[in-house]
Amino acid sequence: MCGLFSRRLSDLAMARRILVTSALPNANGPIHLGHMLEHIQTDIWVRFQRMRGHEVYYVCADDTHGTATMIRAEEESTTPEALIEQMRLDHLRDFTGFGISYDNYYSTHSPENQHYAELIYNRLQEAELIFTEEVEQLYDPEKKLFLADRYVVGECPRCGAAGQYGDNCEVCSATYNATELKNPRSVYSGATPELRASEHYFFDLPKYTEFLKEWTKSGAVQPEVANKLSEWLDAGLRAWDISRDAPYFGFTIPGTDDKYFYVWLDAPIGYMASFKNYCDANNVNFDEFWRADSDCEVHHFIGKDIINFHALFWPAELDAVGFRTPTRIHTHGFITVNGTKMSKSRGTFITAEDYLKFLSPEYLRYYYAAKLNGSSDDIDINLEDFVQRVNSDLVGKVVNIASRTAGFIHKQFAGQLAGEMHDAALWQKFVEQTENIAALYERDDTSKAVREITALADLANQYIATHEPWNLNKDPAQRERLHGVCSQAINMFRALAIYLKPILPEMARKAEAFLQVEPFQWNDLAQPLLGHTIAKFKPMLARMEMKTVDQLVAASAEPSTDAAGEPAAADTDSNSGSADDSEGDAYIHIDDFAKVQLKVAKIVAADFVEGADKLLQLTLDVGDHQRNVFSGIREAYGPADLVGKLTVVVANLAPRKMRFGVSEGMVLAAGPGGTDIFLLSPDSGAAPGMDVS
Ligand code: MSP
Ligand code: ZN
Repeated sequence: MCGLFSRRLSDLAMARRILVTSALPNANGPIHLGHMLEHIQTDIWVRFQRMRGHEVYYVCADDTHGTATMIRAEEESTTPEALIEQMRLDHLRDFTGFGISYDNYYSTHSPENQHYAELIYNRLQEAELIFTEEVEQLYDPEKKLFLADRYVVGECPRCGAAGQYGDNCEVCSATYNATELKNPRSVYSGATPELRASEHYFFDLPKYTEFLKEWTKSGAVQPEVANKLSEWLDAGLRAWDISRDAPYFGFTIPGTDDKYFYVWLDAPIGYMASFKNYCDANNVNFDEFWRADSDCEVHHFIGKDIINFHALFWPAELDAVGFRTPTRIHTHGFITVNGTKMSKSRGTFITAEDYLKFLSPEYLRYYYAAKLNGSSDDIDINLEDFVQRVNSDLVGKVVNIASRTAGFIHKQFAGQLAGEMHDAALWQKFVEQTENIAALYERDDTSKAVREITALADLANQYIATHEPWNLNKDPAQRERLHGVCSQAINMFRALAIYLKPILPEMARKAEAFLQVEPFQWNDLAQPLLGHTIAKFKPMLARMEMKTVDQLVAASAEPSTDAAGEPAAADTDSNSGSADDSEGDAYIHIDDFAKVQLKVAKIVAADFVEGADKLLQLTLDVGDHQRNVFSGIREAYGPADLVGKLTVVVANLAPRKMRFGVSEGMVLAAGPGGTDIFLLSPDSGAAPGMDVS
């Protein structure tokens, strides 16, 4: 049997049908570099599988339900539906900007999702896996709604620290129930919550303990994830509360009119719904992928914070109602920037949107790929290393191979490559890696794949250095050798571009145009390019400049009142912001403090800021002139409370450009944020312009 024919047969035999998902981003904030880690990791795997010739569907959606969506819509005087649709479009724009190649990006607030949520719930009912029980929970009497743990703040029952959420203490790490907080307040209204009982619906998860013990050992999760799960399983599972009381933005539970599915019940079902929506529009058979005995594959990519939802509740639910369970759950860790949590004040809470204003998506795709190794370890973006790595590997090693040799092919040989390989043994080294590198992609070890690929790039560069085409070019007697060497180099470049295509689709596209070939497939290396005519070389990837990264960080440090609605507070950190910023406290020298110029200011005008629900615009009299300052105190103060008041301003803070104008300084305030912010105000004897020391 001839080689080509047998290869086709084996490809056919191996053709896989694969459904892939990334976790559904919450519809209450912008896409940031943490989300990007997940979607880039998934996209690389998806593109790799497509290059292998498999049938792949990659779906995602926005996760839209919950109280937060409802409140936010109310605050912005819009409907939840309008809010989530705008958010979905923003998210899709950001992901598309990074080249994420979904087949469908849908919403959990969809008819398909309601259908499958109800279907699954009804089947769980029939299987007697649902029961109800009274639950006592904190209730906001002003807003008239039950409060999730994160929507209650108060003093830690253990150490007394103020401004702690209802689940755990950021100061002493104690975990507790929201009902144990001292002096609790509702984050929404500031009202003191009261305890109220209501009936909740539960999924009887403990019945699935034995099933899950087996399932989690079946190879569907990474070993370290299996260990974590077996700890939980050994500690004993509890029934899962799947209902929330009205008012709530979500789907009502069949047979009730005031109970809703908890957002986490319908969120994973959103994977099915997005796929169903795609199937209906594209004539794909949904059931073949989801029926219990399916021979198709389902792969979920998630972060380590949501393992319980995907590797306990979800497979149990699916099995209980007669659907298949996931083939694999690929869990990644969290990103840190320069060794610490992403932080707004340090400018390392970087949104996808901001990133794309400054840098090419390919840089980040490459850097993440170089770091991801298939484990759920956290990943650090060290900004200097980021620049260095991209420049030395991609620009210095890979693209360089083509840029140093393509000119000779063009000028001397009319763009035509030689008819045979100059160093067949070296070429063989490139071809031989095909299955090894494929195996690394398959198991998400792109870090090792990148190492193998850059090792090949090193060989190619050594080869060029040894043969010195620029010297061969000077000697007409060496013409044929020049042709052979440069053609070999172009072929080696092509091999690298093929191997890197899942990571760098844009560079691959440019390489395909340069080589004048069809879109690369994984098996293309079986045939080198011989006697083939290529186009003129055009630069494929610019060097990265540290300066640009610095600009990105500076821009990210600016307070923004973006989609997150996070009070990016010029002046007071939000709760979450201050949690991010708590590390790294250290003494400063008196000289450092002396650099800060504090002055008494009089608030002569205060105004709401259109489109920024956390900000006020203040006009300050600082003695000899007036200043415009934006301040994140709107939840605590109205304009009328402020006009005429004295306060303290940091007078020599570099002006910061915000969406709404330039902020020229910052006023000082105390407190955890939200409604609990207290403007610092000097005694009435002070006058505008006085130094504060
Ligand atoms: N809506 C849920 C997921 C539902 S899936 C059926 C959710 N949303 S999220 O927006 O908070 O997070 C989405 C994904 O991004 C999660 O997998 C999460 O782990 C990941 N990440 C969010 N921040 C992250 C980092 N800082 N670093 C890496 N991944 C992170 O959870
Ligand atoms: Zn505490």
